[in-house]
Amino acid sequence: MEALYKEIAAVLKEAKPCVALTGAGISAESGIPTFRSKGGLWEKYDPMVYASIEVFRQDPSKYWLIRGEFIRDYDRYQPNAGHYALAALEEMGVLRHLITQNIDGLHKKAGSRQVTEIHGSLREINCLSCGRQYLAPDIPAGDPPCCECGGVLKPNTVLFGEQLPPEALETACREASTCKSMLVIGTAAVVQPAASLPSLAKQNGAVIIEVNPEKAFPDADYCITEKAGTALPLIVDHIMMNT
Ligand code: APR
Repeated sequence: MEALYKEIAAVLKEAKPCVALTGAGISAESGIPTFRSKGGLWEKYDPMVYASIEVFRQDPSKYWLIRGEFIRDYDRYQPNAGHYALAALEEMGVLRHLITQNIDGLHKKAGSRQVTEIHGSLREINCLSCGRQYLAPDIPAGDPPCCECGGVLKPNTVLFGEQLPPEALETACREASTCKSMLVIGTAAVVQPAASLPSLAKQNGAVIIEVNPEKAFPDADYCITEKAGTALPLIVDHIMMNT
């Protein structure tokens, strides 16, 4: 494995700029369940019932049943070594941009600045009637919680059946199509359009490096089958060693 880290560090030093695409796997070591790997959220709950905009409009209580506690505890979750390693790669001038599918805000908490949250964030909760915005830990009590005006509250996240924020998608596509290397970290790469970003990068000549205990992106040039919290700090160390 040592030789692999050495080679990847050399690639990342050469193939700049690098862009990262992250999924739920990078937050698993922060205690946040993934969706599709073992014990994932969608093993217990059908996302088309509990996380689709169509059902939400008829009955928001289903979404709030599976997300209410996580939202109220939003500030409790902390970045792990994987998040901090990506912030370090940005600081070192290796990583130009970070595209995340995650809604937990942990990349920004870890200090990453060039971040595009293509599925939105749980940080802001909006009233669909009066537009009032609450911050996650301050949402009113009640299941489902309601706005003081009585309106339905919905986090600023993309549910199944909703469009991604256009400017976020545009930024993600621009970054993926102009990078020279892409780190694909902790994603099953099954949900579009995020799942197409590594292929977009590869079509434009980027080297694809996957970090995932279960290889998910078949066209990756390199795959480190390790947890992100282990692999990413080692990549940073190897880049620092041969500076
Ligand atoms: N380090 C790296 N990868 C990990 C780790 C870890 N510690 N633990 C799990 N993984 C990998 C799993 O092997 C899996 O391939 O992370 C991936 C998680 O896949 P999903 O749970 O499907 O998460 P993700 O790909 O981010 O889902 C995409 O689907 O439900 C929607 O909106 C939701 O953003 C989400 C999207």
